[in-house]
Amino acid sequence: MDNNSTSNILDLRDISFRYPGQEQPVFAGIDFQLKHEKVALLGDNGSGKTTLLQIMVGLLKPEKGGVYFNGRLMEEERDFFVLRQQVGMLFQHADDQLFCPSVLEDVAFGPLNLGRSRKEAMEISTSTLRSIGLAGYEDRITHHLSGGEKRLVALATVLSMEPSVLLLDEPTNDLDHDARHRLLEILSGLDMAFILISHDWDFLAELCTGFYGLTHGRLLKSETLQVHQHRHAHTLGEQGHHHLSP
Ligand SMILES: Nc1ncnc2c1ncn2[C@@H]1O[C@H](COP(=O)(O)OP(=O)(O)OP(=O)(O)O)[C@@H](O)[C@H]1O
Ligand SMILES: [Mg+2]
Repeated sequence: MDNNSTSNILDLRDISFRYPGQEQPVFAGIDFQLKHEKVALLGDNGSGKTTLLQIMVGLLKPEKGGVYFNGRLMEEERDFFVLRQQVGMLFQHADDQLFCPSVLEDVAFGPLNLGRSRKEAMEISTSTLRSIGLAGYEDRITHHLSGGEKRLVALATVLSMEPSVLLLDEPTNDLDHDARHRLLEILSGLDMAFILISHDWDFLAELCTGFYGLTHGRLLKSETLQVHQHRHAHTLGEQGHHHLSP
């Protein structure tokens, strides 16, 4: 990846999109640039966050506008095929990402597809699983895993392809406190650009330097998240717990 923090890695120009049969567009005339940075994408349920990520990787085609990757307009499926080898996307629903019988096969699928030898793919996959705290999960049956375990395996399938950009659609969903913390450490340690969708403001505030909000088909940039304290309740509150942010 071009590590120059001033050049656009992804550049969406004047994007409009409408689902077939829908009267209202999800977006109209959206512009967005991602440089070598970590940005948050916020918005209400149904505001179009997932749709926007899918447009970025060519899984949905905009009605109008273009997606540029490292300065090049992505015109055909072949262009997006190449883009998807470098832009790793973690789907909102882990079941959409996992389709092999065993964890190791799922994680090795990407590297094998990229032309790695079987031995290399196994090594990358084993070390990726270890790095996200899933050592020993190699032979587990993927569809028997818990929701949080599936999400971490899905992340491993993305990381094992060694992408240069990550698009993460609600990665903390289903994660318990420890797994969420581990994910936070992994993501803060990555020297790569990413877009992170989440409703977990503490998580976003810890990681991101740019904040975008999708509302009524428009994308608005805000430089900061307002970090504030609020009251909250816990079940089992007598057990020790801590928070990422004050
Ligand atoms: N395949 C589809 N056909 C028609 N409408 C769709 C389709 N997929 C999504 N939509 C609609 O498009 C809008 C944007 O959906 P999208 O999934 O992008 O929202 P989101 O911001 O990711 O929401 P959430 O926070 O719930 O994940 C919603 O109104 C949704 O109902
Ligand atoms: Mg979504």
